[in-house]
Amino acid sequence: MPPKNDTFLRAVLRQSTDRTPVWMMRQAGRYLPEYRRVREQAGSFMNLCRTPELACQVTLQPLERFRLDAAILFSDILTVPDAMGLGLELLEGEGPRFASPVRSAADVRRLPIPDPESTLAYVPAAVRLIQKHLAGSLPLIGFAGSPWTLATYMVEGGSSRDFRKVKGLLYEQPTLLHELLGKLADAVTAYLNAQIAAGVDAVMVFDTWGGALAHHHYREFSLAYAKRILEQLSRESQDRRIPAILFTKGGGQWLDAMAGTGYDALGLDWTTDIGEARRRVGDRVALQGNLDPMTLYGPVELIRSEVRRVLEDFGTGTGHIFNLGHGILPDVDPDRAGTMIEAVHEFSPAFHAA
Ligand code: CP3
Repeated sequence: MPPKNDTFLRAVLRQSTDRTPVWMMRQAGRYLPEYRRVREQAGSFMNLCRTPELACQVTLQPLERFRLDAAILFSDILTVPDAMGLGLELLEGEGPRFASPVRSAADVRRLPIPDPESTLAYVPAAVRLIQKHLAGSLPLIGFAGSPWTLATYMVEGGSSRDFRKVKGLLYEQPTLLHELLGKLADAVTAYLNAQIAAGVDAVMVFDTWGGALAHHHYREFSLAYAKRILEQLSRESQDRRIPAILFTKGGGQWLDAMAGTGYDALGLDWTTDIGEARRRVGDRVALQGNLDPMTLYGPVELIRSEVRRVLEDFGTGTGHIFNLGHGILPDVDPDRAGTMIEAVHEFSPAFHAA
């Protein structure tokens, strides 16, 4: 059975809707005081991810505050490399850090493909619990990192400004990087399929660092592996179609190639005009985005007019899922997020008149 509010799923599949659905990347996160309380109770970010009851609780928090059209599983893209034995730690104010980064051929060969029902069992467990609480009211989005984006963290050992280690590997030992990316594609496919089996209604692949690749490398080192995942994904589950979304930050120039892969929707960051993007992808995919997340630092009237501008840029008809162009920042006032969401509810029906 589709969820009661199926506006998001319909828009992803470009079926007609009476308004534009809206959700936010990182909607469950530190900008919410109720999240910070549970995070403190959990002791660490990884404990929060690994405890299905707490992961469920924070997944539901933004839905209690805002009129959102989808829930997103609370977890992280780095749970997969953690389960591959890299030892993830999240240091306050420093971001993620791996105890054992991947640097050599031996490191790559040693990596296991984690069984999502054992080392990652807390993720499908959280999905089942969240679905029990949602009780068919809203769709739940599952997600994973793209192989390339995961590789950047695994080779660098954490966040990076210039990606010199992983790009060094690309230029010095491209075959080894391909071996790593192949393993990651298999790990991510199994991970997403386990989320689907546990009940998510859609999946999203985050290619946060695709835009760091040279123009002629994007297809070979990022898109090819995002495509390989899609080809092995369980896109039908219990008679339901499970749509897949691909988000590449900084990927505006490659929309044509992305639209040809078979993903149902593409996420857009704020640097691309969504109307121009729509003209380029035609009716091949839906588009998700793309308000500049910094807009939420602006005054209420500015937020409202920027929401209207994004809706106007996309134009009339289905195929738009309103979102930020990247995750909401930790110091944003939650009321400003509410302003954005309410503005989508208020302005978007005019773009869907029969
Ligand atoms: O969107 C949601 O509400 C669901 C939860 C979610 C998190 N991370 C929770 C999180 C999702 C979808 C992610 C994806 C993710 N994680 C990405 C891809 C999307 C993107 O933002 O580009 C990436 C690159 C990561 C890796 C990651 N996780 C980093 C770089 C950091 C530290 C920097 C930061 O923003 O804090 C994290 C930690 C993290 N993941 C937090 C949350 C709420 C904050 C940690 C905390 O609460 O202590």
